[in-house]
Amino acid sequence: MGQKISNLSDISNLYNSISNIDKGSSIDNTINSFPKLKRGFLFLNLQEYYRQIENHNLILKNYINNKTPQNIKVILKICLTLIFHSKKPHFAIVNEAVEFSKKFKKHSLINAVLRSVLRNKNSISTNGKNISNIFKRCCDDIFSNERICSHIYESFFHKPRNYQISVNDIKDTIYEKRVSYFEKELDQNSFIQDIGNFEIINAIRKIYKDKNIIDICAAPGGKSILLHSYGFNVEAIDKSQRQIDKFKQNINRMKLNIKISKKDFLKTKFPSQYNSILLDAPCSALGTFRRNPDVISKIDEKKLKLNQKSQIEMIDKSLNLLNKSGVLVYIVCSFHPFETMGVIDKIIQKHKTITVENIQSNKMIKKENGYFINPYSFKDIGGSDIFFVTALKKN
Ligand SMILES: C[S@@+](CC[C@H](N)C(=O)[O-])C[C@H]1O[C@@H](n2cnc3c(N)ncnc32)[C@H](O)[C@@H]1O
Repeated sequence: MGQKISNLSDISNLYNSISNIDKGSSIDNTINSFPKLKRGFLFLNLQEYYRQIENHNLILKNYINNKTPQNIKVILKICLTLIFHSKKPHFAIVNEAVEFSKKFKKHSLINAVLRSVLRNKNSISTNGKNISNIFKRCCDDIFSNERICSHIYESFFHKPRNYQISVNDIKDTIYEKRVSYFEKELDQNSFIQDIGNFEIINAIRKIYKDKNIIDICAAPGGKSILLHSYGFNVEAIDKSQRQIDKFKQNINRMKLNIKISKKDFLKTKFPSQYNSILLDAPCSALGTFRRNPDVISKIDEKKLKLNQKSQIEMIDKSLNLLNKSGVLVYIVCSFHPFETMGVIDKIIQKHKTITVENIQSNKMIKKENGYFINPYSFKDIGGSDIFFVTALKKN
């Protein structure tokens, strides 16, 4: 997307962003192609668009039918998001939407639906809690506990709290002398990371016997920085220059001495073996649904199977690089069975010398081959993303 987008209306910027996100991009990457001034508005409304998607589908059933083209439904859902969840004046929303939809020759329909919605505005419920059944099934499969699942569904409809993690123990934190809320200013010795992410490193650092570690998918660096702060000597690699640049910004700001190299793990030959390996593998990011609500609409079994294939390939290679008695920790910010237990089940069947280590944490739920962060255990301080972690020992 070029600079010209700054001159387009909010509706067309949102529409173009959604086309991009639905094709696979993330909300963050999409808004980064817009001028800075536009990003805040787009970020909040894109998040809300995906958070409300099932509620808005239900509302629209009263105004349109199955034959209404998909792109017109998207425009209408953008308008519902702006009408019910932003301060943008209603007349401007209708004018922009009608103007924008002229190219699809459906502006009369858009005009009629929006005027009708505005007439009925007071009788339309804006606090529906509809959420996709596929997502609910994933939660039920993993947590099978009504209290935890209700907390997860509820948390989908609220903007998550942002945390910052300090690289030193400090007073006045909300958790484990390291975690505070991030309000506006980032503390000099802190970086932004979810509390569940912190909990994983806090728990698994005790499992590694050797503090020389390779972090295979390291950027933007949250886990490498935390391990470094706990005395690990981290060799960080990542294949994405854009992610590495973010990593470097963080370590330069915090004046830390961690070396990161641009390498594709799967294509690199390593001269030596390791005792400690961290693999924070690429995944669907389903566990970050609170800040990336679009991930729910993107749950797709075919794509998840492909993710699983590349996750297994990365674990296979990591296990080959691991010395006897060494430990590989596998993490994903997902709780889809394909990317979590499904991956480890296949690894255990294939590599007979591997055992799953115990992880000590009262913030996680233990399953046969690994652990899930239990977001309910952080409920009183703002909740957390959901991660899967397992520690594999080579015998
Ligand atoms: C979940 S993110 C890692 C987050 C990071 N560990 C942190 O805590 O900030 C996954 C990373 O894997 C990287 N990646 C994906 N495939 C890779 C490969 N074949 N080799 C190296 N890095 C890869 C991506 O560029 C991305 O930065």
